Amino acid sequence: MIQYLTTHPWKIVEEGFQPRHHRSSESIFSIGNGRFGQRANHEETYTGPTLQGSYVAGIYYPDKTRVGWWKNGYPEYFAKVLNSINWIGIRVWIDGEELDLAVCSTNNFRRELDMQKGLLVRSFDVTTISGKQARIESIRFCSMADYETAVIRYSVTPLNFDGAIRFTPYLDGDVHNHDSNYDEKFWEPVSSDTTPGGGSVVCRTKKTAFEVAASMQLDVLLDGASQSVSYAEFSRDFYSENNLEIEVKTNQTTQLMKYVGLVSSLNYSTAELKSAAERAALRAKTFGFDKMMSAQVEAWSNIWEMADIQIVGDDEAQQAIRFNIFHLNQTYTGEDSRLNIGPKGFTGEKYGGSTYWDTEAYCIPFYMSTKNQEVARQLLVYRHNQLGKAIENAEKLGFSNGAALYPMVTMNGEECHNEWEITFEEIHRNGAIAYAIHNYIRYTDDHSYLAEYGIDVLTGIARFWAQRVHWSEAKGMYVMHGVTGPNEYENNVNNNWYTSYIARWCMRYAMETLAYVKHHDAQAYTTKTTALKFNEAAEIKQWQHIIDNLFLGKKEGSNIFLQQDGFLDKELRSASSLNQAERPINQHWSWDRILRSCFIKQADVLQGIYFFEEDFDMETIRENFDYYEPMTVHESSLSPCVHSILAAKLGYEEKAYEMYMRTSRLDLDDYNHEAHEGLHITSMAGTWMSIVQGFGGMRVENGELTFNPMLPKKWKGFSFKVMFRGEVKTLKVGEV
Ligand code: BGC
Repeated sequence: MIQYLTTHPWKIVEEGFQPRHHRSSESIFSIGNGRFGQRANHEETYTGPTLQGSYVAGIYYPDKTRVGWWKNGYPEYFAKVLNSINWIGIRVWIDGEELDLAVCSTNNFRRELDMQKGLLVRSFDVTTISGKQARIESIRFCSMADYETAVIRYSVTPLNFDGAIRFTPYLDGDVHNHDSNYDEKFWEPVSSDTTPGGGSVVCRTKKTAFEVAASMQLDVLLDGASQSVSYAEFSRDFYSENNLEIEVKTNQTTQLMKYVGLVSSLNYSTAELKSAAERAALRAKTFGFDKMMSAQVEAWSNIWEMADIQIVGDDEAQQAIRFNIFHLNQTYTGEDSRLNIGPKGFTGEKYGGSTYWDTEAYCIPFYMSTKNQEVARQLLVYRHNQLGKAIENAEKLGFSNGAALYPMVTMNGEECHNEWEITFEEIHRNGAIAYAIHNYIRYTDDHSYLAEYGIDVLTGIARFWAQRVHWSEAKGMYVMHGVTGPNEYENNVNNNWYTSYIARWCMRYAMETLAYVKHHDAQAYTTKTTALKFNEAAEIKQWQHIIDNLFLGKKEGSNIFLQQDGFLDKELRSASSLNQAERPINQHWSWDRILRSCFIKQADVLQGIYFFEEDFDMETIRENFDYYEPMTVHESSLSPCVHSILAAKLGYEEKAYEMYMRTSRLDLDDYNHEAHEGLHITSMAGTWMSIVQGFGGMRVENGELTFNPMLPKKWKGFSFKVMFRGEVKTLKVGEV
């Protein structure tokens, strides 16, 4: 754990500039509005270690896969979320000396993420090398009220001198991705220009030909009054800047307003793009900083009205849940069906903005309960839109007859992971996609989804599983070889219990869905099954035979489901026997040692028990939890939340709380030493689940919402709201 941030119920605060944590802070204090997002890089020049990141939703680059020896089935490319035009840049000179926090010394540094209002605020006193002192404050936000705009108010107050403050606000598209496989740059210039007090840059991605345009409009104030200043403009490919200087006396404050418009070719034709960005920047300037800020506060207040979770008596827990909810809302607003939720959202490059099984397994419940039901439906339709590619993907691997294998990592439906050994065999993702449909229908009662879309996806998935298993003469049963379960610390295993269990469930659910549609909408059934070339008698017979005869391992004389063949032959030891200095093991052990060990990265058998808990009695759940949790190192962000929910169900209050703190403060306290790479956005939805389904005990039973709350000892009370079938339900537990 790395703890350097101050606890506050609505804010994340860093006091005192800590360069060694700066890259983590850049992730933690990121801001966004669903359309674009920005790491908390400094606006002014910073020559210390930094990961520049400005990301635009849906804009990616297919970076050619880097691999030693090519194997068939390897994806052609890994889709990179793109670092795009730097719109925050403002170089600042204090009476001739450039402000750079790696060079100048600071006092009273405070960086604050105001989650209630959606603002990033930074303030500090700086002393230049020659001893000039000035007070700096910057406030910036990506507007939640107007998704195409952002604004920065950058203030400088000389403290011990009268002199010139020079600002060079700029837009810079000549940026690179840290994770570029071949050190290539991904952008080419389209246009750049400047006007006095304004400027624009348009760039195009190589290969994918997406375009992004940024435009700025400036205003300069002295003690609150707008000044007319002379601007010196400069532009070149990728780049546009304005230079201006203003004489300021001791204790007078000058402010530079940088109003920004940022749009992409996802929403405009390339011919209109530049003017759309210019219009957005002008719109922001005309509106003005104060009104933009009021609109921002109001937009966030509306989000919090529905999404907030209150925890009384434990500020660390309170701060953490709001941090998770805040980032989820900044990442995905549910307005655009082409978008999805990337594991790192707009906060870093690794895993980036691609879609993983995380969406279906973790994020759907959050969006389903805190937003209008359409948002969750849209997330399901996203996968329906990509069904053709999932079928192609399966065909490339030798499957046929409309079998669909959804990608583990995708931007447009194509598989684009970067790590064959692990990701290729994680076919369990197909199960989560089917499970999400079931979860959605159970929650919303929107059965129309099945005939319209669900039937296609479920049939494709069931066909895949039916072809993926094979008959074992030795066992007289079907088996499934060569898979990787959710626990990525085992690769290429046979009979992973989770994968086989969900595969069997998918075939059963597909059969139920087909029967449901046949019964309720015979015409849709005929149309769909004809299009699917569904051979009802033969396929159903085959699925049923597999359902009845699929091997699922169990430890003899117990209720423990075997994670995979051979698991019991490992040296079984508990994670608590590991030396702290060896953790996280993925940063200290060789990969081969990890694979041979019994240590479990994330819920695997327990993921299955969590999904299908109604299939198991309490004793079975307890036995499996008691067996597997001690061997789990929780080195995937997706792990602690599932354990927290199960622990709450089992009445393990302390464990549930420990796991809640771990999931909710994973990035704030940097448990896995990786916050500098970006935040774990998708697991934040798991954090929400650990309160709502864990401590709140919320379930849907026979079409009704039920609650079975547990109040952690440290809390006086908690409350949350969920939207269920058009009605808002509130749960209050204890003193709230
Ligand atoms: C986890 C996967 C997950 C991915 C993206 C990995 O560390 O093991 O289950 O899909 O991160 O969040």
